Amino acid sequence: ADIFLTVEKAAKWVAAEIASVIKEKQKLGKKCVLGLATGATPLSVYSELIRLHQEEALSFQNVITFNLDEYYPMLKSSAQSYNHYMNDVLFHHIDIPKNQIHVPDGEVSKITITGYCKEYENRIDSCGGLDLQILGIGRTGHIGFNEPGSQLDSKTRLIMLDSLTRRDAAKDFNGLNNVPKAAITMGVGTIFKAKRVILMAWGEGKAAIVKKALEESQCDAVPASYLQRHADVKFVLDVPAASEL
Ligand code: GLP
Repeated sequence: ADIFLTVEKAAKWVAAEIASVIKEKQKLGKKCVLGLATGATPLSVYSELIRLHQEEALSFQNVITFNLDEYYPMLKSSAQSYNHYMNDVLFHHIDIPKNQIHVPDGEVSKITITGYCKEYENRIDSCGGLDLQILGIGRTGHIGFNEPGSQLDSKTRLIMLDSLTRRDAAKDFNGLNNVPKAAITMGVGTIFKAKRVILMAWGEGKAAIVKKALEESQCDAVPASYLQRHADVKFVLDVPAASEL
């Protein structure tokens, strides 16, 4: 793990890594495929990417993005949707072509959802796979919305949310009763296929789960622990999140 003195410094480092993958691909005339995360954790990374776009002319023309997850059911126009979040905190501020953006659709009908998830998975593969996946971590040990019980080979699918995850989300939904019970998420296996993975965690609230993910044996009770066996993974932490290591 890399431990930074402030979230700002950590976020700048992560954004610089993302920018360097984008530029490397640009030089080769290739597309750069990024896996993106939501929640509070990556906000400072997205602000820094917007700054790099505005002040240092970083272009996202060659970037294809796939987001990890979306609540289900969820209207895209809803303030709590990850579709809305991504437009608001990143996509509206950069020059990424609209047709290169993919966020799971919380509006798909229940009967078509299995096919929809399969298509999402296939689309990632047909773009050549994820060059870099960024992740946060939930207090249940989830990555994306892969709650405890998610298997190493799991793919994009509908999943029921853990009660702790729903309680943590209650503040965004004005109460627990309004938090959706399910979500569409890339699987652990989907995330694993990424060539490179960066997991970020800030604050003492994440210290216990970061310790489990990094130091305890791999098991589906803590899906993030499976990252220990990825060939190119880095945990980027601030001091409080690293305090139990
Ligand atoms: C959310 C997201 C995850 C995120 C995690 C932590 O519910 N589905 O992708 O990493 O939970 O959220 P936060 O960054 O707000 O702590």
